[in-house]
Amino acid sequence: MLFEQLRAGGCLSYVAGCEKTCAGVIVDPALDLVDRYVALTVEKGLRVRYVIDSHTHADHFSAARELARQLGARIVMHRRSAAPFADMRVDDGELLVVGELRVGVIHTPGHTDDSMCLVLPDRVLTGDTLLIGATGRTDLPTGDPEALHESLFGKLLGLDDALRVFPAHDYKGRESSTLGAEKSSNPRLQKKERAAFVELMRGLDLAMPDHLTEALRTNRTGGKTVKQLIAEAAREVPFMGMDEVRARIEREDRELVLLDVRERDAFEAGHLPGARHVPRGQLELRVDQELPDPTVRVLAYCQYGKISTLAAATLRTMGYSRAVALDGGIDVWTKAGYPLEKGPARAYSPTRIP
Ligand SMILES: [Fe+2]
Repeated sequence: MLFEQLRAGGCLSYVAGCEKTCAGVIVDPALDLVDRYVALTVEKGLRVRYVIDSHTHADHFSAARELARQLGARIVMHRRSAAPFADMRVDDGELLVVGELRVGVIHTPGHTDDSMCLVLPDRVLTGDTLLIGATGRTDLPTGDPEALHESLFGKLLGLDDALRVFPAHDYKGRESSTLGAEKSSNPRLQKKERAAFVELMRGLDLAMPDHLTEALRTNRTGGKTVKQLIAEAAREVPFMGMDEVRARIEREDRELVLLDVRERDAFEAGHLPGARHVPRGQLELRVDQELPDPTVRVLAYCQYGKISTLAAATLRTMGYSRAVALDGGIDVWTKAGYPLEKGPARAYSPTRIP
């Protein structure tokens, strides 16, 4: 069996495959690592059949949809998952056939109601049901400490003690454990009695994960993250560096139109010398009036360089084929002591339409 563990911060994901047939599976992929999974499967010569999320993640962004699209794989989740994009829904006691490899499904609700553990020949991918020295939390949507107690003591811990445990999270750089080691030393598993375990879980008082609502929004619906939207826009536009823009301002380059897409207050407090102003929210509706020549060379900028990337991509979509974005935002420009102008936008006279 081919087996690779990949780490993105505290998130662990897995690529496993059958060496004989080259069929593979990816489990709990993180969106930040999309290129690494694709590169790894190419390097290992794997044809990925399934991308599996062990549950609906609330703390990071799943790459299941993106990988399934890029690799032509099917997205597998538990029957209880809310995700409308799952291609195959599985349930307790079922197997996924990956070449000669068998991936066994155990439904282990508790951390979420759609949590699964995945059993491979000598190991178990425990998702967030069982972590090294801990368990998944049960205080996020669909979490249930009583269900987690049953999933652990009634199901998972009944498997062979020698099975290696590979969780979906570890924040201390550890790679794996075994079921036997967890049974004997995991503090939460010492609370074998249901009421004591539930009391422990209810008393944890953990901080909410970063990006909770965005993660649930995107992982449950298949929608895009903000970072994805900006990255997709960034692939569509060229950028111009600050030094280049500054040099063009200093030599009074009339060819390049500087377009500030921030709100009016921000514009008036300080903008690039000679810049025009169209807030991002009004861009599509006002652009024909402000930039009647679609062949104009226009540079969009904003405070931090994100909104301007979206704006430049929108301009390109609308036919401004020479639109570019500032590499960075006026925030960095200002800190660098580069020239600024204050006050309202100048009355604008449209350029001649060629
Ligand atoms: Fe989780």
